[in-house]
This record gives sequence, structure tokens and C-alpha cells, in this order.
Amino acid sequence: MILVTGGAGFIGANFVLDWLALNDEPVINLDKLTYAGNLESLSSLQSDSRHVFVQGDIGDSALVSGLLATHQPRAVVHFAAESHVDRSIHGAEDFIQTNIVGTFRLLEAVRAHWAALPEADRAAFRFLHVSTDEVYGSLTPDAPAFTETHGFEPNSPYSASKAASDHLVRAWHHTHGLPVITTNCSNNYGPYHFPEKLIPLMIVNALAGKPLPVYGDGMQVRDWLYVKDHCSAIRRVLQGGQLGETYNVGGWNEQPNIEIVRIICSLLDELRPRADGASYTTQITHVKDRPGHDRRYAIDARKIEQELGWKPAETFQTGIRKTVQWYLDHSDWVERVQSGAYRQWVKAQYGTPATA
Ligand code: NAD
Ligand code: TYD
Repeated sequence: MILVTGGAGFIGANFVLDWLALNDEPVINLDKLTYAGNLESLSSLQSDSRHVFVQGDIGDSALVSGLLATHQPRAVVHFAAESHVDRSIHGAEDFIQTNIVGTFRLLEAVRAHWAALPEADRAAFRFLHVSTDEVYGSLTPDAPAFTETHGFEPNSPYSASKAASDHLVRAWHHTHGLPVITTNCSNNYGPYHFPEKLIPLMIVNALAGKPLPVYGDGMQVRDWLYVKDHCSAIRRVLQGGQLGETYNVGGWNEQPNIEIVRIICSLLDELRPRADGASYTTQITHVKDRPGHDRRYAIDARKIEQELGWKPAETFQTGIRKTVQWYLDHSDWVERVQSGAYRQWVKAQYGTPATA
């Protein structure tokens, strides 16, 4: 089996769902269930014995060591993190605690477990660290996309905390021999995305008749990847990635934010036209820019393509249409996330925090 951290979050939940849809290897899912963790996203696995959910903190060394000893996973896939840049600007404490201290403690617990394994298990073991392109900093408009050798120039408390965790993971490989691999991925979008991030926020606000808040001039560029393509890249890296290496993962899809918002509006105009016949674009509002806002991210994903044969399956056109349709079809999920009702749902479904 494998141990996944943060498997109740956006990407982690998609990863767990896809993993168990594709094979029968069980998953232990360790997640603290912060505001961003939502077990309702995994409700289809509720009576599936292949999914063992454990509510807990990656920084709880005794808990993690116990899980490793009990379940003997062959790999750890580490998603758990504080992930929202705007929240990191308002307060970075949780980012430091989880992304840096938490990753450190997780690495230590995994190292102790791994070091005591029989030779063959030790050789087969993997620690896959899921990170972001934001560690590389911001690109000028004409600069080449980030390769794996680009220097780390993180600009937000979030990206600085992720960069720190990437460095720790690297050091645990070089110093202690821990069999790690890191992926640095561009912006994801797709089902179960918490509506504080650009794409789900715009869909949800548009449907609610609220303003669509575009920071500054809206010309900041991001490289968008459908979340299920990120999950397939992680599976591929887990299977064939070289130890100690990093792999950039991206969608070859750079777009300015304002263009993303316009595309969402036009899909909604088609799929759920406003009652008054006006376009959703009339709800676009330019608001104060984010402090230290990175201007452009772009991923050069040739290494993972050439070495591991991975490519995204979705284009932005197909992925964003699926995503908008998913939000139209799952208004109950959105309502419960927005009202915080999923916390009561978890309590009602699972009683006190679920543990192994
Ligand atoms: P998310 O915020 O949706 O989910 C994070 C999950 O981690 C939540 O379920 C939360 O409860 C859990 N968590 C937080 N602190 C924890 C702790 N101390 N112990 C255990 N669990 C804890 O994040 P996401 O968007 O799914 O991102 C997952 C990972 O992928 C993160 O490491 C992030 O940096 C990275 N990443 C995200 C993107 C993106 O576009 N969302 C892109 C590249 C990389
Ligand atoms: P976000 O989804 O927060 O991801 P990240 O900051 O990690 O790239 O934001 C994506 C882009 O959208 C980023 O340039 C900030 C911008 N943005 C807005 O313009 N308005 C918003 O309300 C949000 C949440 C983001």
C-alpha cells in the first residue's frame, strides 16, 4: 500500500480517487482536515476497505511512525500543505508549521522507518514530494519557461515555505540517502477545487451573481494543468522517476488571468445563461492587486515527457469545459463547502475524527 498525506485536499482527493479507480493497491490517507480538507470529496470511498482515512498532522511524529510501522507502505506521496498564496500573505505561521516543520518531521519519521527496512524493501521505497512551480519565482514576458535547473527565487510566504520543503527533501536524499523524488507542478484546476482559488472562485461567484474579482490588470500569466493530468504525472514519476531528481509538470498552457475569466464566462453563457440574457463578463471587476504578485509562471515539461513519456491528456479547452460542467453538476458540494457544512457532514458520517 501507499501512504498519501493531504489526500482530502483538492489534488490529493483527485489522486486517491484516480489511484483506486485504476488499481487495487490500498491507500492510507493522512490528513489534518484543515479548512481545505474535505472528506466529502471522498464520500464514494466511504465503504471501500482499500481506503484507510486517518485524521492527523504530518508533524505528529508518533502518529506517522505508528502508521508506517502498522501499514508498511511501499511509498509516501506527500501532498499535505497550506496552499493558498493570499492566506500566506495574511498570516504565514501555518505555512511555516506545516510546509516546513511538518515536512521535516515527516521526513524524519519516514527516514527512521526506511532505514530499518530489509534491503529489498529499502531499495524499492519511495518518498514523492509534491511541489509547485512557484518556488522558481516570477518570469519576465519573454523569458524561457522554468526548467528543473532554474534557481529558486520564491516571492510569497507560500512559495518560500514550499521552496524550503523542497530543499529539505533534497538534503534528506543527499545526506541520508532517502529515496526521494520531487515534482514541481504548475497551477491545477478541476473537480473538488476549493473556491478560494481563481478558477472555482470565478465559476461560483458568476453563478451567484457576485463580482468576479480580477487582481490588478489581470495580465498575470499562469500555466494551467487539469488536475487529473497532474495525478497521472505523479503516478508516472512514482513508477519510473530517478531517485533524487526533480520533474517539472505543466500543461503547456500559459494564459493571462483575465483570459481565463473570460473563457469561464463564455462557457457559463453557453451552459447556464443568465436569466437577464447578459454575459457573465459584465460581473468582472478589477480589484487591488495582490502584494508581491508574481507576473508569470511557465513550465518547461520536456524532461518528464522525454524521460518518462508523460504528457497531459487534456487540452485547456477540454479540461475547462469539464471543470465548469462539474461545478454546475455539483452545486451541493459547493454549497456545503461554502457554508462549512461539510464539517458537520464529516462528524455525522464518521462520528469523532476517524482514525486507523
Ligand atoms: P489543498 O489546500 O486543497 O489541500 C491540502 C490538504 O492538506 C488539505 O486536505 C489539508 O487538510 C491537508 N493538510 C494541511 N495541513 C496538514 C497537516 N499539517 N497535516 C496533514 N494534513 C494537512 O492543496 P492542493 O491544491 O490539493 O495542493 C496539494 C499539494 O500540491 C500542495 O503541497 C501544493 O503545494 C502542491 N501544488 C498545488 C498546486 C495547485 O495548483 N493547487 C500546484 C502545484 C503544486
Ligand atoms: P490562485 O488560484 O490563488 O493561484 P496562485 O496564486 O497559486 O497562482 O491565483 C491564480 C491567479 O489568479 C493569480 O495570478 C492570482 C489571480 N487571482 C485573481 O485575479 N483574483 C482572485 O480572486 C484570485 C483568488 C486569484
